[in-house]
Amino acid sequence: MAKEFKRYLVTSALPYANGPVHIGHLAGVYVPSDIYVRYLRLRGRDVISICGSDEHGVAITIKARKEGVTPQQIIDRYHNLIKTSFERFGISFDIYSRTSSPVHAQTASDFFRKLYSEGKFIEKTSLQYYDEEAQQFLADRYIVGTCPHCGNERAYGDQCEQCGSTLSPDELINPHSALSGSPLVKRETKHWYLPLDQYEGFLRHWILDGHKEWRPNVYGQCKSWLDLGLQPRAVSRDLDWGIPVPVEGAEGKVLYVWFDAPIGYISATKELTPDWERYWKDPETKMVHFIGKDNIVFHCIVFPSMLKAHGDYILPENVPANEFLNLEGEKISTSRNWAVWLHEYLDEFPGKEDVLRYVLCANAPESKDNDFTWKDFQARNNNELVAVLGNFVNRALVLTQKYYEGVVPPCGALTDYDRETIAELQRVKSVLEQDLENFRFREALKDAMNVARIGNKYLADSEPWKVIKTDPERVKTILNIALQITANLSIVIEPFMPFSAEKLRRMLQVDSFDWERIGSMDLLAAGHTIGKPELLFEKIEDDVIQKQLDKLAATKAANKAAEASQNIENQKDEISFDDFQKMDIRVSTILEAEKVAKTKKLLKLTVDTGIDKRVIVSGIAEYFTPEELVGQQVLVLVNLAPRTLKGIESRGMILMGENADGRLVLLKPAAAVFNGSIVG
Ligand code: MF3
Ligand code: ZN
Repeated sequence: MAKEFKRYLVTSALPYANGPVHIGHLAGVYVPSDIYVRYLRLRGRDVISICGSDEHGVAITIKARKEGVTPQQIIDRYHNLIKTSFERFGISFDIYSRTSSPVHAQTASDFFRKLYSEGKFIEKTSLQYYDEEAQQFLADRYIVGTCPHCGNERAYGDQCEQCGSTLSPDELINPHSALSGSPLVKRETKHWYLPLDQYEGFLRHWILDGHKEWRPNVYGQCKSWLDLGLQPRAVSRDLDWGIPVPVEGAEGKVLYVWFDAPIGYISATKELTPDWERYWKDPETKMVHFIGKDNIVFHCIVFPSMLKAHGDYILPENVPANEFLNLEGEKISTSRNWAVWLHEYLDEFPGKEDVLRYVLCANAPESKDNDFTWKDFQARNNNELVAVLGNFVNRALVLTQKYYEGVVPPCGALTDYDRETIAELQRVKSVLEQDLENFRFREALKDAMNVARIGNKYLADSEPWKVIKTDPERVKTILNIALQITANLSIVIEPFMPFSAEKLRRMLQVDSFDWERIGSMDLLAAGHTIGKPELLFEKIEDDVIQKQLDKLAATKAANKAAEASQNIENQKDEISFDDFQKMDIRVSTILEAEKVAKTKKLLKLTVDTGIDKRVIVSGIAEYFTPEELVGQQVLVLVNLAPRTLKGIESRGMILMGENADGRLVLLKPAAAVFNGSIVG
């Protein structure tokens, strides 16, 4: 039997205030958390839903620098945009706060000071990358270089956006500062570390033994972190944007954003209610963190260790992290504007908040990455919301108007078929509850939609429009049952589609019902007058979808053009003839080609350079099959310093050009020449 809790504290990952919210955020975090809290409220549970903007960290300073404005201007702009977009979309946080609030600075500083004074941190001086020209320490994001996994020359010191690998600056080939372009030097600096290794035993026991019910992706990620062994993590940074480290000798240092942001959940609760301690300190509170999969380590390993170190706080009962949502087959990207932005959707699809809520839940990446496509959006609207849900409600209401002038008819004797239908309806409640309690929101939505399917089938089988001619008394019972089903629908769809639930209640002229009444056949009294039927959902036509597809195509074209103009802008500095002469480029023939195991982009090539036979690892697997390369003559820079990719030493570089679609093409002699022929 699952433990009963007295109250619920539900948090949703604080979005960075460096850009608007998109469908990936919504499907991953905010739609599921809102479904969950709306459900709990409907059941009359004591629940608070907490969120706010994450306004510190290097991402904000980079954005500000790019736009030539202050970080404060950036966060004000996006905090307000995000907050109002959530409100318009019906995300029902009890508070949407921000980490620049004074309460938060106080709370985070107190948290740090308590751990500091109790000796819970390690103080360590280490060598960190420093940019002498810009005169500052460089966050990993401010370091760029070549990715050791895929060869992308614009990889960041923390991550390669081309192949998705997590990196550290030390792994980059040819690392340099993104601020000034200068090479890096290392300087000593002091920081405070949370010794996560000391919490390994606690975490193993708490998660691996105690929370086997967590989603397999979450549990699995935790297990693999723990199996690899945890290291102390710095909780401070050399940065001028953030909450100052509140101890002496820490000038110029701020709290690491991942230290202060989760404490933001506590600060926001404080702002919401003087009773905040009951939510955070009483073990009868069930705390649940809704997050995306990139946040798992912070919410399952780091923050719980912080809470444990502090000692006063409860730990999360569950962390139902979602995988990622792609858009039309490609990774959503803020910087490449490859996204459906919430505020734009709200402007372009007024009154269709629930359609997006529905599609994002029906397609939520609960157990694997999923794809959002506009065609699927249209199909789900037309075939499910309109054809199933809207159609049923409309038929029940229109027939009631037509036969009884909108007055609910009395229910007479039930047939066996009526009883079966009612029994089926009454089975929905516990299944739906099970799914919602266990964070299976896709299934839960199907359960709710099942009520409409039951209703549709009932009307289709009972054919009141025919029976009215032969047995008008019987039709009263049929419509009474159909109307009770519509009233049931207004309860079960509420967590998922609150706008439509409200509209349905208006059409039925009723107030909201308690969750416990799902399955009741007396929600509408005989004699009650319902309102005017309206359409709950409208068909979405092809041209509307085409417009969105065109918009995405335009984004693609704009990205391409930007890249091309960057290539022109990025013309390299002049070099001397001697410099050019240093390059030894030879015509060579590819002898063998094979994929490098466990990589998507790398090919291992054996080439005959005329000088020798050697191995070159090249990040071109997306563009060429090994078979089509074998036997080809290519140009090879043979005196490039060797480097090791995925454990294979690569000696030299195959020269490539790029066509208009961004595909790489081989550069080769127009006629066959001998291997080793010098190019120059
Ligand atoms: N801003 C982070 C992100 O978007 C999430 C922060 S969640 C919190 O990935 F716990 F730190 F608040
Ligand atoms: Zn890479």
